[in-house]
Amino acid sequence: MPTLTHSKVFITGGSAGIGRALALAMARDGASVVVCARGQAALDDTLAALKAANPTGRHGAVAADVSDPAAMRQAAQQALELLGGLDVLVCNSGYAQAGTVAELPDDSFRRLMDVNYFGHVNTVRAFQPHFQAQGHGRIVLVSSGLAVLSVYGYGAYSASKFAITGFAQALRQEMMLHGVTVKLFLPPTTDTPGLKRENEDKPPLCLEMEMGSALNATHTPEKVVAAFLKWLPGGRFYGYATWDSWLQFFMAHHFPELTLILADGELRGAEKRLAKKAQTPS
Ligand SMILES: NC(=O)c1ccc[n+]([C@@H]2O[C@H](COP(=O)([O-])OP(=O)(O)OC[C@H]3O[C@@H](n4cnc5c(N)ncnc54)[C@H](OP(=O)(O)O)[C@@H]3O)[C@@H](O)[C@H]2O)c1
Repeated sequence: MPTLTHSKVFITGGSAGIGRALALAMARDGASVVVCARGQAALDDTLAALKAANPTGRHGAVAADVSDPAAMRQAAQQALELLGGLDVLVCNSGYAQAGTVAELPDDSFRRLMDVNYFGHVNTVRAFQPHFQAQGHGRIVLVSSGLAVLSVYGYGAYSASKFAITGFAQALRQEMMLHGVTVKLFLPPTTDTPGLKRENEDKPPLCLEMEMGSALNATHTPEKVVAAFLKWLPGGRFYGYATWDSWLQFFMAHHFPELTLILADGELRGAEKRLAKKAQTPS
């Protein structure tokens, strides 16, 4: 039974990875979807796939950089005109760059905040007048499991994702007074083009730690999206797609000191394995 029939949806970062899989699943479920990203070729390709998934929907693709507030105001206007309103806003755009605090260039800290945090702020604020006037709807902010606990090599990325949580909690209360629901989704490690890029220049200790972690399975976008769609209509603020992301959230909130100790154990273990590999002749 389709649940999103006639729903109007806008998704940032909707041309690849989790965002694209979500856009197509929502279209198949009966929604009209407008996707937003920078690259025109991937937008065109996604728009064609949306039309094939739901030929009766009014789909669209808008090229804009979420870190530019003026561009997002224009994108919002375009989408609202095309769709004739909006029911669900998904702020999903973002990227990860791993690197130690000492080694990452200054610019990386700023760009991660500009895209991951300010990108969500700009998108929400562009659609806020519409939602306040309408008096209903859903706004989802996509964050990360690394907004719950940060580890070696993720200082810059996690800071941009932790910031989303503070913003989302306040926004939730403010929009509640207008009848609008705000939710926060924490994807687990997911097999996407973004993850492949992230892994290309990841510090070896980061990679080693992830490979040895009990809580780091890589999931398919389809699995993550299925969990998202099950969680979307409900009343829960936090959304986790998989058992490992739920366990990480549970541990970090209920046993914060123990969680740090366990993470330190994984780091020390990874350090030893790397040292051993370096000594072993290949
Ligand atoms: N994959 C994972 O393991 C994982 C884990 C936890 C959280 N997440 C989060 O989930 C979200 C989606 O991740 P993903 O892995 O699916 O990413 P992805 O495969 O890299 O896709 C990212 C999407 O965002 C768009 N985008 C990137 N920068 C943008 C900008 N400045 N303005 C507008 N659009 C932009 C990209 O298109 P253009 O480049 O053409 O603009 C693309 O459509 C991100 O917020 C990410 O942090 C991912």
